[in-house]
Amino acid sequence: MKSILESRPKLAKQVADVAEVAGYLWQKGWAERNGGNITVNVTELADDEIKALPAISEKVQIGNMLPHLKGCYFFCKGTNKRMRDLARWPMENGSFIRICDNCASYEIIADNPVKPTSELASHLSMHNYLIGSGSNYKAVVHTHPIDLVAMTHNPAFLKKDVLTKLLWSMIPETRAFCPKGLGIIPYALPSSFELADATVKQLEEYDVVMWEKHGVCSVSENVMEAFDMIDTLSKSAQIYLTAKSMGFEPEGLSDVLMEELKVAFNLPK
Ligand code: 13P
Ligand code: ZN
Repeated sequence: MKSILESRPKLAKQVADVAEVAGYLWQKGWAERNGGNITVNVTELADDEIKALPAISEKVQIGNMLPHLKGCYFFCKGTNKRMRDLARWPMENGSFIRICDNCASYEIIADNPVKPTSELASHLSMHNYLIGSGSNYKAVVHTHPIDLVAMTHNPAFLKKDVLTKLLWSMIPETRAFCPKGLGIIPYALPSSFELADATVKQLEEYDVVMWEKHGVCSVSENVMEAFDMIDTLSKSAQIYLTAKSMGFEPEGLSDVLMEELKVAFNLPK
């Protein structure tokens, strides 16, 4: 069977990048079993031949109406598929979907009928929000970083921007490369529309959000950048935890030094 990636180097690069990041998530220890999911908006790369491809699945209801996604195309990790398998065999553990004209259902178009992630409602709601707000962001990464998730088990860290400030103050890179900080979403059932709606609300302010006692979600122009922001925040969390395990409270960069970074790097917040 001919793959959709054949003679389409740009599309193949998107899938290769997803596979590369999936490998990092596994190596980091953030992707137990099927933990985490990735989707990428590839609509720009859908040529006429792709648009004419027949569906290889039934039409599946998304569960909500996403008006900005009409005719959009996404590469999605499959539900119950492992990141370590997505890394090696992306087209057996993920699939391309097309959003139907009613903006409320999707169909799989290639290469295999791999059912998309159970967090599709959240992912598609985020893509819908991003397109609607004129953003050029194309990638959503959800993963379960041990250190960041552990921190959400402390209610004191769940107040607005407490973690943002703490993690920014651990190392200048986090302030510079995660300039909007970290949004917090109170625990909600995985895969639920409640979680999807709360996530979209937080995207008005943040590019990276924590799902309390579950994981983190990041949006960016591409899958590498989305991974890098989570990796940077996790580095800060590890510095904090390392200092704590050495028996002291880390001092952190002062407000004055943080303000200096904000000016020097022309940061938005
Ligand atoms: P999926 O295997 O359906 O992508 O679910 C993994 C997950 O992390 C749910 O939050
Ligand atoms: Zn999860």
